[in-house]
Amino acid sequence: MKLGVNLDHVATVRQARYRCCRKVPARAEPVMLEALRAAEKAGAHGITLHLREDRRHVQDDDVWMVRRRGRLPFNLEMALHPEIVRIALKVGPEEVCLVPERRQEVTTEGGLDVAGMASALPAAIERFHRKKIRVSLFVAPDPRQLRASAAAGADCVELHTGAFAGAASASARKREARRLVEGARLAHSLGLQVNAGHGLSYDNVKWMRRVPHLDTLNIGHTIVSRAILAGLEQAVREMLRLMR
Ligand code: PXP
Repeated sequence: MKLGVNLDHVATVRQARYRCCRKVPARAEPVMLEALRAAEKAGAHGITLHLREDRRHVQDDDVWMVRRRGRLPFNLEMALHPEIVRIALKVGPEEVCLVPERRQEVTTEGGLDVAGMASALPAAIERFHRKKIRVSLFVAPDPRQLRASAAAGADCVELHTGAFAGAASASARKREARRLVEGARLAHSLGLQVNAGHGLSYDNVKWMRRVPHLDTLNIGHTIVSRAILAGLEQAVREMLRLMR
């Protein structure tokens, strides 16, 4: 199983200070290039950024930086918004992961309604394929959505693990894990690569070992959260040393 590291929330911390500028100063902290290098050095298998229409975290320059300087496959998460599609086709990541996007949401809440977008998706997927960009669809582990994903011509599905991660009881978690197992089996049998992500954490990721055919887990928030706490003590010590 491979790990795609989602660096969106490195940009979230940076934008807390630099929201004013669409053009982010190259050394604005935390420096995205340094985060990219750390993930590469640690053995990540891929890098993910979500360029949202409202640019709340990742900015266009981040996407170009990862494209030009990154050494790993680049997965660009995005909605099928015309401006973002234009940028994605120009940047040319190895893969795009199509997600639904609503401005009011805190993070991507639901999976894509592939079955309900049957008319728009195949043409959009074809545009990416012409540029040799693989297409992944972020969907709930729902047979209808998985069949529609294969029919639309996707290469891959990313199974939405949000319901599993947010399950309120042990029995709900088991039930959601089973849906992921069955979804992965069906997706694989339809010839789709199977990825998964959203809400995975250091606590719950071990469950993913039971899900068959998983190629890549895309994980972000928990890794950036852990990075902050794992490094905070050293950061305070360094500041105190410089003040003395
Ligand atoms: N995969 C998709 C499609 C997502 O939208 C997100 C959230 O941006 C993730 C994975 C990563 O989720 P998390 O930050 O909870 O690990």
